[in-house]
Amino acid sequence: MRPTPPPRTYRVKSFGCQMNVYDGERMAELLAEQGIQPAPEGEEADLVVLNTCHIREKAAEKVYSDIGRLRRADGTAPLIAVAGCVAQAEGEEIMARAPSVSMVVGPQAYHRLPAMISEAVAGLRSVDTDMPTETKFDALPARRKVGPSAFLTVQEGCDKFCTYCVVPYTRGAEVSRGFNELVDEAKKLVEAGAKEITLLGQNVNAWRDDMGRGLEKLIEALAAIPELARIRYTTSHPADMTQALLNAHRDVPKLMPFLHLPVQSGNDRVLKAMNRSHTAASYLAILERVRAVRPDIALSGDFIVGFPGETDAEFEDTLRLVEQVGYAQCFSFKYSARPGTPAATMDGQVAPALMDERLQRLQAALNRTQLAFNQASVGKRCLVLVERKGKYDGQWLGKSPWLQSVHFTGDAAIGDLVEVELLEAGANSLSARLV
Ligand code: 5AD
Ligand code: SF4
Repeated sequence: MRPTPPPRTYRVKSFGCQMNVYDGERMAELLAEQGIQPAPEGEEADLVVLNTCHIREKAAEKVYSDIGRLRRADGTAPLIAVAGCVAQAEGEEIMARAPSVSMVVGPQAYHRLPAMISEAVAGLRSVDTDMPTETKFDALPARRKVGPSAFLTVQEGCDKFCTYCVVPYTRGAEVSRGFNELVDEAKKLVEAGAKEITLLGQNVNAWRDDMGRGLEKLIEALAAIPELARIRYTTSHPADMTQALLNAHRDVPKLMPFLHLPVQSGNDRVLKAMNRSHTAASYLAILERVRAVRPDIALSGDFIVGFPGETDAEFEDTLRLVEQVGYAQCFSFKYSARPGTPAATMDGQVAPALMDERLQRLQAALNRTQLAFNQASVGKRCLVLVERKGKYDGQWLGKSPWLQSVHFTGDAAIGDLVEVELLEAGANSLSARLV
């Protein structure tokens, strides 16, 4: 690589989960602290950070087409850093396959970006996929300006080893950030404009501090911040769903009535082959417990269709579970074989066409339950946190307590909590009027 002038502008592009969005924001703040400015809309940046996702094959392959697209007509390219989970999993391969990339940095090492940029400016390429014992969080600048709804990563990594999943390999073992550090960061977020904080973790409900306090204690502490109106958390694992956390949905008014609890399949043989530590029945029992303390809770989940060996009858069990639960939202995916995971070499890999068909049937069922959930909300009054302007003049978009997207027109501003009446429901949003 040839030496290049130090970058004056940057752009961070984040893919995948909300934890990547959070990491992307932190990287942007770090670059800004170095005096690098965000590139104006529509203009090329001197430095591009691709913050990648490795969870499914399609997401991982996207990196290479994105790198290709950064090439200019004269064959040169901006400084490119590949971050995120593809960086962690395929660091050396990226270096070999994509000569225009000068930095590869994993999710636990991105606080070292400034030093890597200096090397890149000198013409050196570098890979840093360490999981250092020093925490990146200590090295990052404080939070300054955020939108009304902000993310806060409280826990990273996963010890569950579901047989299809790369996360335990890319993000490492479960690690919780400290209680005081998190309360401090939450206060900074609120000072910077956040009205709602979503606590993030690959297994957020596995959060535990060294005094043995669970996530509900952290939620209680954040609820004591006066200007913070709403608290959410995602994504949870059934194995860590304690009664104490469920009770927080009854006892902490600022904790929103929404639970994202992935189930993946409604069939016990498939769940076992996935190394999920629950059955369909034990999963449903958790939902019963949370509904007992918070009857209006909105439920959400993740599903995989076409796991190796999944038969038609086993898939039908998933459809049955969906009808039974009545989800308010869901994410559903075709199984994607990930190198290095146990499921990738299991017998009975399902044909892509069959996966397509199952996904369509599942999504049709999920759409029906989502629409039914939204329709049941029509006529309710609730607070909406205004997040942005809508497409039309005077229109605003925000979220209900149940995480529904709500649009309305009238007098409001971003960051307001306004009372509305819900009027009309679609599968993905509701219209409302100010009251
Ligand atoms: N193939 C398809 N979906 C996957 N997920 C995780 N790994 C895979 C895979 N190999 C889905 C799961 C998980 C969500 C974040 O992504 O549903 O809950
Ligand atoms: Fe992946 Fe399972 Fe861990 Fe979720 S719980 S990150 S699906 S291994």
